[in-house]
Amino acid sequence: MPTPCEVDTTFRLDTQQAEDLARQFGTPLYVLTETCLRQRIRAYKHAFEASAERTQLCYASKANSTLGVIKIAHEEGCRIDVASEGELRAAIAAGVPAGDCEFHGSNKHPDELLFALESGIHAINVDNFEEIEHLSSLWQLRYTTKLVLRLAPGVDPITHEKIATGQEDSKFGFNISDGSAERAVLLTMKFKLHLVGFHCHVGSQLLDPEAQAAGAEALARFALRMLESHGFEAQVLNFGGGLGIPYTKDDSPLPVIEYCRRLADGVSNVLGETSLKPLLMQEPGRALVGEAGLTLYQVGVVKEVPVAGGTRVYVSVDGGLADNPRPALYGAEYTVERVSPVTESGLKRCTVSGRHCETDELFPNVLLPNDIAQGDLLQVLCTGAYNSSMASNYNRYPRPATVLLTTEGTTRLLQRQETWDEMFAREIV
Ligand code: LLP
Repeated sequence: MPTPCEVDTTFRLDTQQAEDLARQFGTPLYVLTETCLRQRIRAYKHAFEASAERTQLCYASKANSTLGVIKIAHEEGCRIDVASEGELRAAIAAGVPAGDCEFHGSNKHPDELLFALESGIHAINVDNFEEIEHLSSLWQLRYTTKLVLRLAPGVDPITHEKIATGQEDSKFGFNISDGSAERAVLLTMKFKLHLVGFHCHVGSQLLDPEAQAAGAEALARFALRMLESHGFEAQVLNFGGGLGIPYTKDDSPLPVIEYCRRLADGVSNVLGETSLKPLLMQEPGRALVGEAGLTLYQVGVVKEVPVAGGTRVYVSVDGGLADNPRPALYGAEYTVERVSPVTESGLKRCTVSGRHCETDELFPNVLLPNDIAQGDLLQVLCTGAYNSSMASNYNRYPRPATVLLTTEGTTRLLQRQETWDEMFAREIV
């Protein structure tokens, strides 16, 4: 029996399944597997619990805020990390009490804060001095919500610059190095706010855990200093999310069990035998849902164009940057496969392009069968995170449906494709 951490979660469809789904729901189509999703969450939870005495896992719902996904994450014991009123409303609509949600954000609108407090949110992750001032004025209303300070620990992770957030030059959180974090603690103490601890999130799609571990240690050192200097006893240390996933065979993230141990050991080396025994928290998004999803596309046009030294084969699919903006934003790479098996004809290098009026190079360098042709279905693996949640209507394409392949073997529509009426519902001519 594999332990929950050893499960093989690479999710792909066979030809029959893919053709049936494409026929029934159309393409592009986001497909999720419940078994893999639950396994990933259990594996993470199990690994985290094995690494420290008191832990709490949250699910960063920005990765995929489809209500059905939030519901499953909550059923598996996660609190829900929300980064806007909209995400909080999504969690509530999924049946999650606000008391199981944590509210993040670098520029929360006062209305959003009030909505979160009135809903009974469990904790607010406070990002800046304006937010402390604002909360202090609301606090006279005697909310019981807990506050956690987001800190910029001053570590620079190895990842795409657009998803690195732990460095000092970041819009997120209070810098430890310039004294802002300490001043924020003193201010919350002065205002008698319900501060319970500290948070950081150093970056996303981290394949090397060192920056994340350094962030956790910096948080622990800061917590210890606040105890010694000001008698503030941190009850919570939250290390954010960030663990990467294997989008291609070149990506090899640390196994989650080693990753959690690395973070927890770092903290316990710092806190040692001191009186600080905080609850440790993490809030991964991608590592929980990314591998549980794939996207199905249908090939429309196959075009060969002359380029220096040969030809380039463009394989155009019926989706693109509106359903997966990650290649355009971060140069993200994916594993792309034709659903029907490779025939005798071998493979050729192709550029899979999207249908939008941009270069829209979705997957610029993939091997596809030589006989790739109109009507073929492609599956793009590991699209469960930051695809549907980042989708747009560019060029007025309706956003795709999401289906869930349930553990019982049935297919459940979680989100249907957008209708034309919905597309124009907000317009006034
Ligand atoms: N916690 C906080 C405070 C965050 O800002 C994030 C992600 C997470 C947790 C979850 O991070 P994860 O475990 O998923 O790496 N759109 C980008 C990712 C941006 C992530 C922003 N914050 C992408 O597609 O790669």
